[in-house]
Amino acid sequence: MHSNKEMGVTVLSIMILMLLAEVEGWKMFHRGRGRGGMLGSPRAAPNTSVPSAELFLQLLDHFNPTVPRTWEQRYFTNASFYVPGGPVFLMIGGEGTADPLWMVTGQWIEYARHYNALCFMLEHRYYGASRPTRDLSARNLAFLSSEQSLADLAYFIDAMTVKYEVPEGTKWIAFGGSYSGALAAWLRAKYPHLIHGAVSASAPLLAKADFREYYRVVEDDLAISNDSCVTAVRDATQELNMLLKDPLGHKTANEIFK
Ligand SMILES: *[C@@H]1O[C@H](CO)[C@@H](O)[C@H](O)[C@H]1NC(C)=O
Ligand SMILES: *[C@@H]1O[C@H](CO)[C@@H](O)[C@H](O)[C@H]1NC(C)=O
Ligand SMILES: *[C@@H]1O[C@H](CO)[C@@H](O)[C@H](O)[C@H]1NC(C)=O
Repeated sequence: MHSNKEMGVTVLSIMILMLLAEVEGWKMFHRGRGRGGMLGSPRAAPNTSVPSAELFLQLLDHFNPTVPRTWEQRYFTNASFYVPGGPVFLMIGGEGTADPLWMVTGQWIEYARHYNALCFMLEHRYYGASRPTRDLSARNLAFLSSEQSLADLAYFIDAMTVKYEVPEGTKWIAFGGSYSGALAAWLRAKYPHLIHGAVSASAPLLAKADFREYYRVVEDDLAISNDSCVTAVRDATQELNMLLKDPLGHKTANEIFK
């Protein structure tokens, strides 16, 4: 279906300022991310009309065919600039609610106008209104991973190709900032037959096993729902670290988490 041309990896790592050129009050940003722990919203006139949310039937677990559970993932479309033969732009949702303002403003929309692109934004699983599971129990959180999220995007690309009768050979370009910027680059690397290029803004492109800096983002995210949650998780982590310092503590920890 998709031709796998020998295209060089078109990953542009550009400063966040380019993608976020129109972000309001960007002093709120610390090391390229919002104090809220996610990509900020772009600046727009009050009451700017935005496309309404749509839902897409997504697989819960892309790596286990014996779990055919599905859920509804939220996405937004702006087809106003699209002329068949033009590219498809895919804005990747990150660790926060997907803001539909991105569908009508920002540098990528200017590119879309210029290149007659069809634009989509897919919200990241477990964020905003895209909740695959009823609760956030450890069992259910097992489905929250970058791998699953990349597979969500691949599955979404296939579905939208059918829905919009996107011609064969159409170039899909992924966009993202920060965490979702990393996802954009990884999507290009992992699914080169689906993604022609990626624009990755201010992203930690090299995957890191012990990515301690990301805890700051998690902290900001947790604080959105409840500050006490941050304190509780921090206290619990410290207590566990203490326990793991000696054999008796080890034993206690083993008992607790048996
Ligand atoms: C935006 O919409 C609200 C509710 O419809 C209205 O009260 C308000 O005056 C509008 N603001 C502007 C700047 O148009
Ligand atoms: C797409 O974005 C343009 C530019 O902001 C806007 O004028 C248009 O209404 C948008 N289309 C939809 C369907 O929201
Ligand atoms: C935040 O968490 C604390 C501790 O669990 C709880 O007592 C409090 O009611 C929570 N606040 C809200 C707004 O949920």
